[in-house]
Amino acid sequence: MTIIQRPLRACFFWLEGWLDRIFPPAWNPLYHLGTLGFFYLWVVTVSGIYVYIFFDTGTTEAYDSIEYMTYEQWYLAGIMRSLHRYASDGMVLMMGVHMLREFALDRYRGKHWFTWVTGLPVLWLVFIAGITGYWLVWDMLAQYVAQATSEWLDWLPIFGVPVVRNFLAPNLLDDRFFTLLTFIHIAVPIILLFVLWIHLQRVSRPEVNPARGLALGTLLMLVVLSLVKPAESQGPANLSQVPAELGLDWFYLFAYPIMDIWSSGALWVFLVTLSLIVAALPWLPPMRRVPVARVDLANCNGCTRCAEDCPYSAVTMQPRSDGLPFEREAVVDPALCVACGICAGACPTSTPFRRTGELVPGIDLPSRSLADLRTRIETAVADLSGDARLLVFGCDHGVDLGRQDLPGLATLKLPCVAALPPAFIDYVISRDLADGVVLAGCREGACYYRFGTEWTQERIERRRDPYLRARVPRERLCTIWAAPTDRAAAERALRAFAASLESLPPDLGRTRQRATPAKPQVEELSDHG
Ligand code: HEM
Ligand code: SF4
Ligand code: SF4
Repeated sequence: MTIIQRPLRACFFWLEGWLDRIFPPAWNPLYHLGTLGFFYLWVVTVSGIYVYIFFDTGTTEAYDSIEYMTYEQWYLAGIMRSLHRYASDGMVLMMGVHMLREFALDRYRGKHWFTWVTGLPVLWLVFIAGITGYWLVWDMLAQYVAQATSEWLDWLPIFGVPVVRNFLAPNLLDDRFFTLLTFIHIAVPIILLFVLWIHLQRVSRPEVNPARGLALGTLLMLVVLSLVKPAESQGPANLSQVPAELGLDWFYLFAYPIMDIWSSGALWVFLVTLSLIVAALPWLPPMRRVPVARVDLANCNGCTRCAEDCPYSAVTMQPRSDGLPFEREAVVDPALCVACGICAGACPTSTPFRRTGELVPGIDLPSRSLADLRTRIETAVADLSGDARLLVFGCDHGVDLGRQDLPGLATLKLPCVAALPPAFIDYVISRDLADGVVLAGCREGACYYRFGTEWTQERIERRRDPYLRARVPRERLCTIWAAPTDRAAAERALRAFAASLESLPPDLGRTRQRATPAKPQVEELSDHG
């Protein structure tokens, strides 16, 4: 699978880097594809309700009522019709790219399987809603779609009377069929909303509303498109004629030309097989099992920070079971935990300063424990020399700063940059284990584990528990948010930081006095920048 994922991932990094040059991370559409999918759904819903007020569900009235909206009331109902169409197209586009991106970033396997698999019915439902929408217009395109879809559906031995019979002659089609279609067209999006709710059950704090700028920009784009190229019908349907030239909406109707070449049975087999393959992808091949986070009750005071920071709702707070004088305790659901370590980074007991006994925090990753991290730090810094000894904490998914020839540089890897408890930064600086600490994680707004860069930034800026202590001089801390493809720019930032350290007073941060927190040096990088 990596043979397909790698180039795809590089394409996404490249495109996202370009968009980062134009938009802030909160507006970069590629970072908010699922969210945009929801936004388009809201636009479809509101415009659909308006259009429905003027829509007549009869075989002749349907076309006429839509013509009225398009030409007589073009300034409102016409725009609403166009918004309805273009936002529906937008949904397909967002959904397709969202799916590809999750695949490229490898966020569909292991514990992510549930969100991936529940995305599939969403895909089918969006197409059912869209195709029935085209049908309702009852123009020549609708006639073509109706006849082709009915023939295709009739291949299934489930309809007593073939559906296609409704479209063989004008007198066979009645208004009840239209009412049924309208019902399906409205009921399917309601089911879709419910399935989307299931889709998001395993992600905590799902982002369903885009930032205001992104929402307004998207809406403006749709309105401009609606004014420049309003949605129009393609002449009234006439069942006594075969539609000649037709313009297809390629977002929804791309499979229809295939129906002219393949038999209905072949298309069914193809679509069902494709859906099954996509549904099975999370296990092709299965992901290596990583031990999940473990709670040590003796060190857990039930503060809830781990539950608040976990990006996948894997930690719940439950009544205390061990008799200690706390109300609650953290419990990890192994089926949900992706072993990102963010919970360990959030726990107030995750402090390397403790020397009595072993370092056992309230919650930790058994395979990448904090006790082990402290040992790795001590080993790594032992060989550092020079005036700018740098310790880089890099994450598994962002830029890799390990392979370079900077003297006085040591790199340690974490699953996510937010798996590093802020106390460890304090430890390295105040104990003079290095002159500077670098946190290198995914690009801002594009964290593999969703919130890693955001939580880290907030902890450093003392807006989120656990705070990085004020005494840590921010001049000695540098954050580099960059994708693996941004290596050259990230290395430049690293060297610049190393140079800046040489000009700092040698004792800055090594005393126990409080220093006024300054802003840390933040590098948001893209090789295109
Ligand atoms: C209109 C359709 C869809 C909408 C509105 C939608 C929405 C979302 C949203 C809001 C998120 C959470 C993003 C975040 O806050 O980080 C998400 C995650 C996800 N979606 Fe969708 N989605 C749609 C379709 C699909 C489809 C078709 C698939 C794949 C078959 C899919 C696969 C995923 C996966 C794998 C994640 C989880 C990523 C992770 O584990 O971090 N989605 N989706
Ligand atoms: S390791 Fe990550 S997914 Fe697992 S409980 Fe901790 S924060 Fe949640
Ligand atoms: S953050 Fe630590 S102390 Fe707080 S509830 Fe979680 S495990 Fe317990």
